Amino acid sequence: YETDTEVSYTVVADEGQTSFREGPLTETYGYNGSYLGPVLQVRRGQQVHINLQNKLEEETTFHWHGLKIPSDVDGGPHHAIEAEGRAEVDFTVDQEAATLWFHSHAHQKSAEQVYNGLSGLIFVEDEHSDSLDLPKEYGVNDFPLILQERFFDEDNQFNYDTVYNFDGTTGDTPLVNGTIRPYIEVGQEWVRLRVVNGSNARNYQLRLSDESFFYQIATDGGFLETPVERKEFPLSPGERAEIVVDMSKYKVGEEVSLVDISTTEILALQITGDKSGSLKPLPEKLNDLPPVEADSLPDRQIEMSGMGHKVTLNGRKFYLERIDFTVEQGKKEVWDIAVPNTSMMMGDMPHPFHVHGVQFRILSRNGSPPEAYEAGWKDTILVPPGEAIKIEIEFSQPGIFMMHCHILEHEDNGMMGQILVE
Ligand code: C2O
Ligand code: CU
Ligand code: CU
Repeated sequence: YETDTEVSYTVVADEGQTSFREGPLTETYGYNGSYLGPVLQVRRGQQVHINLQNKLEEETTFHWHGLKIPSDVDGGPHHAIEAEGRAEVDFTVDQEAATLWFHSHAHQKSAEQVYNGLSGLIFVEDEHSDSLDLPKEYGVNDFPLILQERFFDEDNQFNYDTVYNFDGTTGDTPLVNGTIRPYIEVGQEWVRLRVVNGSNARNYQLRLSDESFFYQIATDGGFLETPVERKEFPLSPGERAEIVVDMSKYKVGEEVSLVDISTTEILALQITGDKSGSLKPLPEKLNDLPPVEADSLPDRQIEMSGMGHKVTLNGRKFYLERIDFTVEQGKKEVWDIAVPNTSMMMGDMPHPFHVHGVQFRILSRNGSPPEAYEAGWKDTILVPPGEAIKIEIEFSQPGIFMMHCHILEHEDNGMMGQILVE
């Protein structure tokens, strides 16, 4: 059921078989279906009730990535639901409109379970997003795109164990919403793409095949202050970006693609329905972001280092019984997040840093203020070797929250820590 003040969902993790390509079906995991999951639509202020069911033969968790909710309902590794188990979670949505997602966070099993298909989407809307004149007809001019990549063996199976990589399992076949080489039909209007990097490890660098400009309108946790004109955007695992593309400049029958610079076509957009008349301009103002204190001194340092099985967060590996530090609820902190650029021997690589239960802001990258397109709310940020990123972060909810690298194999290998908020 769904009302203005309450909404209820049932989310079932189960095994399934999925037809990705010709030949045998692929053994997969999914939520309420054989692969991936539903879009949970929630509104700011709403009370959300979710029935969770685990029909898998192993334990799992249901983590709501990006939601500002208390840790006892956030589905981190402490909240395993055993095989054939059930649970219920209740929370109130207390954050602005954004595209979030959910996925398994089972202890040392997240990477494999997500690879097998356990992720889905959460759309948060609010009165402000209702009032903005942006494309919002789902499947018509507003499309979520979960980007992933997979290897298929000769029997069309994922075979995670065989293709497993310590530094993040990749793939040679791009999938969008579980489909290989998909296309969508769009009209000659603004088209909104809510892009989610749901890959275990891959960093995308996305652009349009004809290199035309588009506008980025949102980051992980909400709208940017104004639309930002761009030609290309990066997206690391766990991150989201929303863009709007002017499709009115193409003719009916034409096609343009979203492509990843390092590989191939991700998604084709085919122009079909014509909409006559000229395109309305995008809203000039999308959000009122609170100002940040750019020169605040850091309260804490966080360092992600190593590769392979040597990955650590602040020199240590994750331990379920250890709190790494305590933060005061409702108090702003400044964190310096860095990845060293040390010897070739040690090996360092870019790590997408993610924190549960919170949305933060970037203050600087190596001392320089963030670009306009990353000045909005973030919950995941790619930290390249040799770079230090300063963020402002404030937890509004109490409990024990995870911070970790969103290369899921790194997370499972211990590049994760726990923050106690009280
Ligand atoms: Cu998207 Cu701790 O995860
Ligand atoms: Cu998360
Ligand atoms: Cu990492």
